[in-house]
Amino acid sequence: MTRYGHFDDAKREYVITRPDTPLPWLNYLGQDDFFGLCTNTGGGYAFWKDARLRRLTRYRYNDMPYDGNGRYLYINDGGVVWNPGWKPVKTPLDRYECRHGLGYTQITAEKKGLLVELLLFVPLGENHEIWQVKVRNISGQRKQVKLFSFVEFCFYEALNDMTNYQRTYSIGQVEVEGSAIYHKTEYRERRNHYTLFACTRGIAGFDTSRDVFVGVHNGLHDAAVPLGGECQNSLAFGWNPVGAQQINLDLAAGQQEEFAFILAYVEQGDLPKFSAPDVLNKTRGRELVAKYQRAGAVATAFAALHNQWENLLGSFQVDCPDEHCRRMANTWNQYQCMATFNLSRSASMYETGIGRGMGYRDSNQDILGFVHMIPERARQRILDIAATQLADGTCYHQYQPLTKKGNAEIGGDFYDDHLWLILSTAAYIKETGDFGILQAPASYSDTPAVATNLLHHLETSISYTLSHRGPHGLPLIGHADWNDCLNLNCFSTEPNESFQCAGDVKGSKAESVMIAGLFLYATREMAGLYQAMSRPADAQRMTQAYDEMLAAIEAHAWDGQWYRRAYDAAGKPVGSQQCDEGKIFIESQAWCVLGGAGHTNDRAKQAMESVHTHLFTPNGILLQQPAYKTYHVELGEVSSYPPGVKENAGIFCHNNTWIHLAWCLLGQGDRALEYYLSICPSAKQSQIDIYRGEPYVYAQMIAGRDAPVSGEAKNTWLTGTAAWTFVALSQGILGIRPEYTGLRVDPCIPKSWPSLRVQRRFRGVEHDIEIRNPHGLSRSIKKLEVDGRTIAGNVIPLPSGKSRVRVVATLG
Ligand code: GLC
Ligand code: GLC
Repeated sequence: MTRYGHFDDAKREYVITRPDTPLPWLNYLGQDDFFGLCTNTGGGYAFWKDARLRRLTRYRYNDMPYDGNGRYLYINDGGVVWNPGWKPVKTPLDRYECRHGLGYTQITAEKKGLLVELLLFVPLGENHEIWQVKVRNISGQRKQVKLFSFVEFCFYEALNDMTNYQRTYSIGQVEVEGSAIYHKTEYRERRNHYTLFACTRGIAGFDTSRDVFVGVHNGLHDAAVPLGGECQNSLAFGWNPVGAQQINLDLAAGQQEEFAFILAYVEQGDLPKFSAPDVLNKTRGRELVAKYQRAGAVATAFAALHNQWENLLGSFQVDCPDEHCRRMANTWNQYQCMATFNLSRSASMYETGIGRGMGYRDSNQDILGFVHMIPERARQRILDIAATQLADGTCYHQYQPLTKKGNAEIGGDFYDDHLWLILSTAAYIKETGDFGILQAPASYSDTPAVATNLLHHLETSISYTLSHRGPHGLPLIGHADWNDCLNLNCFSTEPNESFQCAGDVKGSKAESVMIAGLFLYATREMAGLYQAMSRPADAQRMTQAYDEMLAAIEAHAWDGQWYRRAYDAAGKPVGSQQCDEGKIFIESQAWCVLGGAGHTNDRAKQAMESVHTHLFTPNGILLQQPAYKTYHVELGEVSSYPPGVKENAGIFCHNNTWIHLAWCLLGQGDRALEYYLSICPSAKQSQIDIYRGEPYVYAQMIAGRDAPVSGEAKNTWLTGTAAWTFVALSQGILGIRPEYTGLRVDPCIPKSWPSLRVQRRFRGVEHDIEIRNPHGLSRSIKKLEVDGRTIAGNVIPLPSGKSRVRVVATLG
């Protein structure tokens, strides 16, 4: 137990025991098409598929408190008004507990002898969320209380909704039938969908006008109706429609009432839109309410969600000596991978849902941590992403999930983007053996009529880098590489300009060593892929490209003690002893080493030792050192951040994970675990008032030692750290790696670990893998027994016709 809560590992929940957490601590509801953001005090919003284009409830950006607006219940108990989630009224509670679980949040609160339990979740495959409410009178006497529900509707296109009031204040419309409120703004004309907010129980009243329920001069903390005690049955016309119901409860001592609210996105499909002139056809809404009025319906839906997660997580479970590794690998890290796969970088407490959609490089990397759970969804995603590549090899940097179309405002020309598609595709095929995906039809975004396949995209990606190299034979950087903020062609002096879009990359000679390293990695993947397809000539072609790039790296990127980061537009090195600031960067060390550079000449080891000496801190690895204290016009956004945060010498957790993998590649198991734990949220609980972020999910960034708030986390949840850290732990440290021919067992563990055991579902077979370490080593399997039979090497072959195999691997 720490100040704010603790893990309940058996239940796979994080239990928050006081509402005033250092920041709102978020959870996600939903994992298919309907999503809800939900903080530990009920803040957040819901949307269908696309947080920008199908927003269902409103959110106030950068509000006070931070998570302003949400799903709120108000209790009026003899004039004392309180919320089970504490906010917005913030009446002190006699008891509060919030359990964030896998796809659900459960808030339990007690006040004046009334116990309220609120369970929020999205049933599997459904387009609605359920708020199950249990109210129990534990006062020992009869109690009469009033309960009010509240949501504020959004007019779907969230950007317009928050900016275009001259229109939005005049278009809001609702209908009410029984306990159900139908939000039908814009339904009369072009929309064929609506939002339903209903209760499974009879109500004593409702409100749909925000001005009436909240009051024009009030906030949610002193909303008029809950304070006054009676709904006014207001029907919104224009302004701001809300959904609010009043329930009067008369509870004998010990009596409990149970009911549910349903917040649904409903598409009419081919049903008639109207049942009478301007009267919405409510067939689907009525069916939905009836469904959850049936006894046990909510419990059944909840059980299905729970079983689904147990099943998904069953594809990877570990028992090892470190508590944080177990907890993150077995539950929270995989759970976060689901969120990043679904949402990329679109909607969180730091991403508004109206800005970034699905990132090209982000989504490709997110697949790496997700593919083992639901490979079919990864397959579709790979093809969707590929469809946003252009015929010349560049890519839309981002796309909208609803339309799956590239985002023209943000554009492209990030010269790493295309290469990540190779990593996601290879990971998918290794996981599934489905080489067929390479032949799947996939045209280019700008030439949709020309039929090509996925393999063609991978080839185009390779040739794009090959044909876009600079004076040192290293890849050109374009607007930026993985480090969005290293803008070597931007030269921006205009404060209103976006670093990401400004500047002309055509004709520029700025080069990226990181892309060079990534290219090594990608060509090696391609060579492996072609070998597995028995196409040796193509494999050879890839190896040649690899060798050429490796030669350029070793000839031009080595700085003496580490790999340089880039060459700027004037040909000057970035990340070099020659620089005054930004002498050493993390990304080029990671990718050169992971790509196989420096392995025959000892540079890989030197580069990694330089990382240890100059960049490693107890809170993780700094992105570069020394931090930029002044703005460098030739480097762009990276030098625009104050020293110690974000890409300017912050601890950018995402790239830390590559170093974890690199330590594994070098066989340094103790280092790998030490580094792993340095950014692990579960290990931050003892310094949580400094860290501030959720202890159950990774943050994009932890402030580095140059910042006055060193150790503070920001931008939790939607970060590439999720996928990569799962790869680093499961495939690097624990060493269970899917390959084309089987499952490789190649752990790189701390010497003190005597053994570990992994359950891995792979190609439909349950692998029960025990790794023994009798001699206190970090790596190198000496003996591999599969179902009692000793196998040469360390790859468990693909079994035929078995559903389980038992493996004993011994380090020696
Ligand atoms: C953010 C972006 C990602 C980028 C990284 C580093 O996480 O989503 O695309 O690689 O920042 O700049
Ligand atoms: C990435 C970086 C962030 C930068 C942004 C620009 O997300 O992490 O620092 O501001 O890209 O789009």
